[in-house]
Amino acid sequence: MSLSFEGKVVLVTGAGGGLGREYALAFAKRGASVVVNDLGVDTKGGGKNSAAADKVVEEIRAKGGKAVANYDSVEDGEKLIQSALDAFGKIDVVVNNAGILRDRSFPRTSDLDWDLIQRIHLRGSFQVTRAAWNHMKKQKFGRIIMTASAAGIYGNFGQANYSAAKLGLLGLSNTLAIEGSKYNIFCNTIAPVAGSRLTETVMPPDLVQALKPEFVAPLVLWLCHEQCQENGGLFEVGAGWIGKLRWERSLGRTVRQKNKPMTPEAVRDQWDQICDFTDATRPTSVQESLQSVVNELSRVESDGEVGANPTSAGVNPASAVGHKLPPATFTFNHTNCILYALGVGMSTKDQDHLRFLFEGHEDFSCLPTFGVIPSQAIMLEHGLSSIPGLDIDFTQVLHGEQYLELFKPLPTSGTLHSEGIVADILDKGSGALVLLDVHTYNGDELISFNQFSVFVVGAGGFGGNRTSNKAKVSLPPPKRAPDVVVSDCTTRDQAALYRLSGDWNPLHIDPSFAEIGGFQAPILHGLCSFGFAARHVLKQYADNDPSRFKAIKVRFAKPVMPGQCLQTEMWKEGNRVHIQCKVKETGNVVLAGAYVDLHEAAAAAPEKISQGGGDLQSELVFAEIGRRIQDLGSELVKKVNAVFGWEITKDGKNAAQWTIDLKNGSGALHQGPFSGKVDVTFTVSDEDFMEVVQGKLNPQQAFFSGKLKVRGNIMLSQKLEVILKDYAKL
Ligand code: NAI
Repeated sequence: MSLSFEGKVVLVTGAGGGLGREYALAFAKRGASVVVNDLGVDTKGGGKNSAAADKVVEEIRAKGGKAVANYDSVEDGEKLIQSALDAFGKIDVVVNNAGILRDRSFPRTSDLDWDLIQRIHLRGSFQVTRAAWNHMKKQKFGRIIMTASAAGIYGNFGQANYSAAKLGLLGLSNTLAIEGSKYNIFCNTIAPVAGSRLTETVMPPDLVQALKPEFVAPLVLWLCHEQCQENGGLFEVGAGWIGKLRWERSLGRTVRQKNKPMTPEAVRDQWDQICDFTDATRPTSVQESLQSVVNELSRVESDGEVGANPTSAGVNPASAVGHKLPPATFTFNHTNCILYALGVGMSTKDQDHLRFLFEGHEDFSCLPTFGVIPSQAIMLEHGLSSIPGLDIDFTQVLHGEQYLELFKPLPTSGTLHSEGIVADILDKGSGALVLLDVHTYNGDELISFNQFSVFVVGAGGFGGNRTSNKAKVSLPPPKRAPDVVVSDCTTRDQAALYRLSGDWNPLHIDPSFAEIGGFQAPILHGLCSFGFAARHVLKQYADNDPSRFKAIKVRFAKPVMPGQCLQTEMWKEGNRVHIQCKVKETGNVVLAGAYVDLHEAAAAAPEKISQGGGDLQSELVFAEIGRRIQDLGSELVKKVNAVFGWEITKDGKNAAQWTIDLKNGSGALHQGPFSGKVDVTFTVSDEDFMEVVQGKLNPQQAFFSGKLKVRGNIMLSQKLEVILKDYAKL
């Protein structure tokens, strides 16, 4: 679908020439009503002329577009917005583009050179945007562009005044992005490069020609479209290339000791480490920035050696890994199940939620993700502090990831006991990742397995492994638009309600505690959003049947504020549903690399299997493959180490599904849907499959002629030979 601006009112300042003109034409071409503002000055801000704006308006109208001219200076922001209101009744988009140059080497910069530049660029953008703000806020839509410059980002000889104003605009944009987001007002900044009269004095003529403003305008249009959820971004753009910029911060070094003065010598001595960008972090907010400072403060106050590197607090995997935590018990009844269901947003508004909310319901059940609650008791009771070899700063601990697998549907009451063990500790450079495995039992029966991945900021660098075969890893979603998106809003009291299920951390309720943690307000529990996302999947793909739930994995990417709306995007791949959860208001991904594994529906299973029955020739081959795996499984697993999926079609329809697992255990052949990860999937008709295995059809030819379709890691196809050879005699 092409991006239309039909019905939108756009103001472009300084649109009489250069980049602004191009934006105005492009918006008008796509249906916008455009206010073409231009004071008609020379590049230094002298003179005044209405012709520039008029010409562009004429151009737009000649092509059947809608436009009016405005000749005021951007310093009179109200007048520009009034033009939009008078002509078109509203204002949706403001592109702050007008600008001039007064380049001087710094000592020769006069007051006028300085003030004019600040007035036109910075104050002008402020005036225009402020005049538009309340209109945008009321209509709950607004898109704003600030125009910065590489000179501002990097500095440029002779442009002290200009670079100061240009980077000032970025600061302005950063804050507007925060203040506007809840009203759907998004503000982004561009640093363009284009041939115009501003650049013709500094660039060679052929470059001025080549760097056409039309290679910048499409970015501006996208950022201003209602579909675009980008907010607070900074982009360099020119010649058709677009890149995004962000801040990076070195891990830094604390150069102070408790109760001792901080000295410039200590700073000097640690200078290299202060400036070392290895394992740099990328703070994205004042909260994140402040958090590390506050954390350092408490660290220094509690021990604090001079030069103590926050990256290397004592982690000794040798003594920590394998350590068993004292077991914990958890007794519960239907009240806990219902409270949890309410905590993760279930409501009597939805009839099908009743089975989780009403103990008298004939199918009364506990939500599968309640499975984290009994096992987290072990964390909450004993925490990480009891683990030997883990001398870390507990203010730096973040719940990074969670895996939950259920082996039985959860009971709705009883006493469960959990056993926890430190499965591994990974050295992620910027921090240590502690993998804590918790098995939970009902009597002797294993009910669930949880893996808590706890990230300890600044505790990396101890020389440990970066990955572990113990880790349940998160997986990126497929590279296509989600199959389903479900939206669901948390309430203002979501965290207050969720905490009653057992995680009493004041971070989720107490504003002053949250502030110390570096958050503007108490945040929602990650495991609460986790519960939301899981039940979205259960409803969408398993008819709310808890017995269909097998496992879930999520990575907690960003916090959610109570009251925000969650958007769960789902991609179904066999029995695995990949998910990604975003905060609707900000577009921030909060649960990343996540997935839910489901069991096949009991009723559907025989039907699926019978699909493959009978008349498929390929069945014989798979039966033989199955026998070979039984005989030689371990050897094949060593040789091949991959999982192959097969979709066999008959008369153009899916007729059978097989998975040859030569990766796990001693290998296996599965018929029907497969819940694990498949490395490569082949789709081929029954007839062509037989041609291939009998050596009558070359697999490569089959691929190029479209008879054999391949998804996933195509390189692994080569290994198939090991299992497919010798079928010619069949
Ligand atoms: P331009 O000189 O072709 O266009 C700027 C327009 O702004 C002119 O038509 C001018 O009359 C108008 N203008 C100046 N003062 C005004 C005021 N007080 N009120 C209303 N209109 C006013 O320049 P160009 O290259 O198209 O630049 C557009 C924006 O992009 C500027 O903000 C500039 O600083 C920025 N920029 C451009 C770069 C480039 O490579 N062209 C590089 C980096 C930034």
